[in-house]
Amino acid sequence: MCGIVGYFGKNEALPILIDGLKRLEYRGYDSSGVALLHQSKVLCFKAVGKIVELEKKISEDKSPHPPLLKHALDPEQGGAKIGIAHTRWATHGVPSEQNAHPHSDCSGKIWLVHNGIIENYQQIKKHLIEKGHIFKSETDTEALAHLIEDLYDGDLTEAVKKALKVITGTYGIVVFHADEPNKIIAAKKGSPLVVGLGENETIIASDVSAIMRYTKQAIYLDDGEMVEIDANGPRIFDSFNAEITKDISEIEWDINQAEKGGYPHFLIKEIFEQPETVMNSVRGRLVLEEGMAKLGGLDAVADKIRNIDRIIIVACGTARCAALVGEYMLEEYAGIPTEVDYAHEFRYKKQILNDKTAVIVMSQSGETADTLAAVKEAKEKGVLTLGIVNTVGSSIARETDAGIYNHVGPEISVASTKAFTSQISILSLLTLFMGRQRDMSLVTGQRIVNEIQALPDKIRKILEADGEIKKIAEKYSKATSFAFLGRKYNHPLAFEGAIKLKELSYIHAEGFAAGEMKHGPIAMIDENFPSFYFVPEDSVYEKNVSNMQEIKARAGKIIAVATEGDEKIKDIADDVIYIPKTLEMLTPILSAVPAQLFAYHMAVLKGLDVDKPRNLAKSVTVE
Ligand code: M6R
Repeated sequence: MCGIVGYFGKNEALPILIDGLKRLEYRGYDSSGVALLHQSKVLCFKAVGKIVELEKKISEDKSPHPPLLKHALDPEQGGAKIGIAHTRWATHGVPSEQNAHPHSDCSGKIWLVHNGIIENYQQIKKHLIEKGHIFKSETDTEALAHLIEDLYDGDLTEAVKKALKVITGTYGIVVFHADEPNKIIAAKKGSPLVVGLGENETIIASDVSAIMRYTKQAIYLDDGEMVEIDANGPRIFDSFNAEITKDISEIEWDINQAEKGGYPHFLIKEIFEQPETVMNSVRGRLVLEEGMAKLGGLDAVADKIRNIDRIIIVACGTARCAALVGEYMLEEYAGIPTEVDYAHEFRYKKQILNDKTAVIVMSQSGETADTLAAVKEAKEKGVLTLGIVNTVGSSIARETDAGIYNHVGPEISVASTKAFTSQISILSLLTLFMGRQRDMSLVTGQRIVNEIQALPDKIRKILEADGEIKKIAEKYSKATSFAFLGRKYNHPLAFEGAIKLKELSYIHAEGFAAGEMKHGPIAMIDENFPSFYFVPEDSVYEKNVSNMQEIKARAGKIIAVATEGDEKIKDIADDVIYIPKTLEMLTPILSAVPAQLFAYHMAVLKGLDVDKPRNLAKSVTVE
């Protein structure tokens, strides 16, 4: 959702801030803005829409700035060396220039960017209006800028500290004061901030993507911490105002991973990366001789895990679909009763938990507010929390007791693809790990290890059918509704296939457990309502074939994802996409790929913004 970039250093701030905003575009936004601090004067630009609109505003700026401020925008004069920038995803107030960040106080000297939500902003605003403050926007953020002004007594750091004690809610902020042009301040609670340490420059951002082009050295701030950045670099303070030293982390993601690399969209690049990303997720974690998974991130809690007799997996959206596959795996192969909860419902149910329950939290971004809230609830109840997270150093990664990273690199496209297949891969490792701690035999463990290792080549083979899948998409491009169907391990794939098609192409799609069709949904089937059916040769194959016949009997068209060599399926399905044979529990990793490609081509055919579908954000940081 919203994105923050702040710069203090020896270089021209503006290009770095704009580049940072572009790197954060994938998170979803509807307006943007930048404020530059130069010789105690401030220049601010805001625009609705894409960053390119903001760039236009800056390059076409005809305002009669005094010469000094003109220098702030002039690279030949060195430009401004301090600045803050923001992409906003509207929560309080429509997308507009007034509501876009940075926001300022009455004096126009304090400038602030903010991610998160200030819950008590209305009381603060009312109080400040009574004291004579004049507000220009509908946002919660502006209340904080005025509050800092109200508490300012010549020291910005002190005023920010005092203001943060007054507000409730969540924040990641970066702020400066024109009268103190030698520093910027940042603080965090419930919204991520990472400090990038360059050579004579500090870049602060809500996401490492905005930093990694300039430095690989980063400090992740924890809740309650504040950082003061000046020419000597950052000084960090804990929630008790004591100066602290924090570990410097190495950013492992590579800048090339965050670029399109010749593909027309990030989405198709990420779909095609899956042979490597599935391999990266399991690399170094499989031990064939022992038929076991080696999961370093769980070492510290391995004994606790041995005693777990119930698992709850919490996640949202696509991550939840992966979790549902995990439920089948963990129950069948590790023998542990497992249930999957929507992360956003977890807190509202009476949870019956004990010291033998583990809550597994799955999130690509590691920042999904609903999922983070579920972790906090589980921790509050004292149960073991395990994270399956892609983003190193993210809030969920740090909140959970232990965990496993996906290692798939940044997933830029809003629709999750490579993270999904990785999440199921990691769940298969966890199943091995927990299964072998219990009754799983060595032979079964070894068979699973062998099959996991063979997955990347099998995915490669499916990707070769991209051209055929595109033709199938062309054939169905006028359909306005789709059913996605599957049973057992591919039952969650029906939900995931429907999510992909909906979010990318805006075509109505619903996922059903195939056995459910005859209990109601089949009434919708006619020649204009096609089904996308996952029907690999597995233990429920015959049942699926019967359900397909029922659809066929009602003139419904069927696209089937079936196992290579299954010629019989062509008698029932109108179109068939083949996947190689694998172990039943691993079929979802393969059957996901045709569904992703189908949704991608449908969206491209409709001329849509594939990487940034309307109304969505990559990381959903509001509840
Ligand atoms: O970052 P997370 O994995 O926690 O995100 C969860 C969902 O918001 C996410 O999977 C969403 O459903 C995607 N748009 C799906 O493609």
